[in-house]
Amino acid sequence: MKPPAPIAMLAELTHRCPLSCPYCSNPVELTRQNAELDTQTWARVFREAADLGVLQLHLSGGEPASRRDLTELVIAAREAGLYTNLITSGIGLTQKRLGELDAAGLDHVQLSLQGTNPEMADEIGGYNGGFKRKMQVAEWLGEIGFPLTLNAVLHRRNLHQLPRALEMAQEMGARRIEVATVQFHGWALKNRDALMPTRAQAQEANRIVAEARKQLKGTLVIDYVPADYHEDYPKRCMGGWGTSGFNVIPDGQVLPCHAAQSIPHLSFDRVQDKSLADIWYNGEAFNAYRGTEWMAEPCQSCERKTIDFGGCRCQALAIVGDASATDPVCIKSPHHGALQAQADTHAAQVDAPLVYRAFPGKETEPAE
Ligand code: SF4
Ligand code: FES
Repeated sequence: MKPPAPIAMLAELTHRCPLSCPYCSNPVELTRQNAELDTQTWARVFREAADLGVLQLHLSGGEPASRRDLTELVIAAREAGLYTNLITSGIGLTQKRLGELDAAGLDHVQLSLQGTNPEMADEIGGYNGGFKRKMQVAEWLGEIGFPLTLNAVLHRRNLHQLPRALEMAQEMGARRIEVATVQFHGWALKNRDALMPTRAQAQEANRIVAEARKQLKGTLVIDYVPADYHEDYPKRCMGGWGTSGFNVIPDGQVLPCHAAQSIPHLSFDRVQDKSLADIWYNGEAFNAYRGTEWMAEPCQSCERKTIDFGGCRCQALAIVGDASATDPVCIKSPHHGALQAQADTHAAQVDAPLVYRAFPGKETEPAE
């Protein structure tokens, strides 16, 4: 049976970023500026995506504002008929630039939050003065009237700030907040000792979110990604592998999820060599874990196999060493108990230092 057409495309326009968050989902091997796709190629990819059925385009990075041609890219995406969402830390956006993006037709902004005060936000982002600049950008976004989602990334060091993050979303006039507990891929995998929430924190966050969802119904939509090492069932990662979306990374490789390059036996097609349609329907990486046929037990005979598709392939690889294994978050996985014990061990490393995201050989990469 032919797979469904994708709904969403995440375009990692660049891996350059003024921040250096230790939980960045970018790969540990970052792509340099001279290997990034140029404006025309991205514009062609946006048209191909729309032809393929994609409706939503998420412009991400790194920091997408580090691309000088961001406004041109938004124009190209809108011309292709895509709904455009800018995922940004806000750093690098001026009032003038935001006005240009508005005029170009940008539909929505998703602003990341590293902490709810300067001390926390600047320490986690590794960027002095970042919080102040972000708050200024939030004000400009409100003045222009962009539909806004606040993306609060939470972990052991800042989970106590969750109630304040919910307040800030309302103060900023956001329609939605994504309460995203760090998922341990990419740089975050290097930082499990420093960032793993305790079990008590994870439970408290579940309680706060459930309560806030009741209280703020009709005012603020709360999307929630819980601390999955402490859960009993895994997330439906990427909505199911090769089911609803894909990522194009700065050098043109097309991935089924942001951490797919961590699975060593997969190879990834590039938009320079093949059409997006060919890559989506026929690409080896996309077909590797599509549907349910690849599953072994306990997933194969499980009633939830079309609900969560066995969880996250990258997590299965990282923890169990086998990308086709049941995500060890699942209570039916033989590795579930070990994962929970591992989570408690990481969470107990109170003095663990943060390992900041960096290009090889550099502390941080300066913003343009
Ligand atoms: Fe999901 Fe597999 Fe666990 Fe069933 S056994 S709940 S399909 S991860
Ligand atoms: Fe790759 Fe979950 S991050 S499948």
